Amino acid sequence: MTGQQDNPFLKQAYKLDSQQATKELYRDWAESYDDTMASHDYRTPARCAEALLRHLPDRTAPIFDIGCGTGISGMALAGAGFATIDGSDISEEMVDKARNLAGVYRNLSVVSLENPFSFDNSYAAITAMGVIAEKHAPPEAISQLLDKLSAGGLLVFSLNNHTLENPAYMAACNAAAQTGKAEILEQEMGPHIVRLGMTSRIMVLKKL
Ligand SMILES: C[S@@+](CC[C@H](N)C(=O)[O-])C[C@H]1O[C@@H](n2cnc3c(N)ncnc32)[C@H](O)[C@@H]1O
Repeated sequence: MTGQQDNPFLKQAYKLDSQQATKELYRDWAESYDDTMASHDYRTPARCAEALLRHLPDRTAPIFDIGCGTGISGMALAGAGFATIDGSDISEEMVDKARNLAGVYRNLSVVSLENPFSFDNSYAAITAMGVIAEKHAPPEAISQLLDKLSAGGLLVFSLNNHTLENPAYMAACNAAAQTGKAEILEQEMGPHIVRLGMTSRIMVLKKL
């Protein structure tokens, strides 16, 4: 395991104590975030995009990428061939970076922590890559995001190995399946941030 010790932002990302601290972290990290993630071999976005492609063959279908950050997640979706991608994030500084990407996002918006999912139910899929995590989006976000989909809509998100230590996140997925709100199509473990030795589970839920 290398890298985390000498990158102050990555170090801080797993020691956050409030959502306000999360906002401040991404405000300060926005300028160098892409370089950090590239140098640490961040695999989750490509894995999420590939998982979505397995269940959503229509590449023109509209997708909403929550917590889009600087746009690494949107670039992974575009790389998989998806052509209609909107995104939002709580960090203005991160979204400003995503705005510089040509031809990836159709619309981008900055949202508040109080109302982070302020979009309508018109999307074929919602993605949340590196977003549903401790001091980012809580376990309840999983049910709230399913409420933003019509029947047949897909929710694709990652849960990293730190987040999985809190059983409430998987409990929220299993509760959605047990109550007939969603079907779990995939829950695949694999590499997350390779240079940190981190793993993530990519969840694909279909709204019923
Ligand atoms: C690890 S970054 C991931 C960014 C991008 N999806 C990627 O894969 O590079 C987490 C992002 O989630 C955003 N975020 C944190 N909590 C959030 C919330 N409750 N709602 C929406 N976005 C949030 C942060 O501002 C940050 O840009």
